[in-house]
Amino acid sequence: MLYRILQAVLLALMLVSPVAAEDADLEQGRTVAFTCLGCHGIPFHTNVYPTYFVPRIKGQTEGYIRAALHAYRDGSRRHPTMHAQANTLSDEDIRNVAVYFASLGGSRR
Ligand code: HEC
Repeated sequence: MLYRILQAVLLALMLVSPVAAEDADLEQGRTVAFTCLGCHGIPFHTNVYPTYFVPRIKGQTEGYIRAALHAYRDGSRRHPTMHAQANTLSDEDIRNVAVYFASLGGSRR
């Protein structure tokens, strides 16, 4: 439901606002983030799979998220699930999604 609303807002922005291109990185990051939310559970901080340890990434720094994704992608941080995720991301996707998650702030609920 929430995702549908976000998608609708995103689509509306793209359709009506020529200025939206200036925010393209954050918006593209938000789009990439839809996949991540299934496991990382943002914005409700709950895990979809209770048997998993899934770290919170909302509010972690851009640099940390970016470094983690590069490490998963190149295999220097070993985790099959996150390797599979990161493997689908371009450098640009990683930068944008890191900016997006960092922009959500760091509330500790
Ligand atoms: C299928 C479930 C799943 C999906 C989808 C998923 N992740 Fe993860 N993610 C995990 C798990 C499990 C870990 C913990 C891995 C470990 O122990 O190193 C993790 C770890 C991370 C970390 C490291 C966090 C830390 O505190 O060190 C980052 C950053 C991250 N994921 C980002 C993403 C992004 C961005 C996406 C979307 C492109 C994504 N994840 C999609 C399950 C998932």
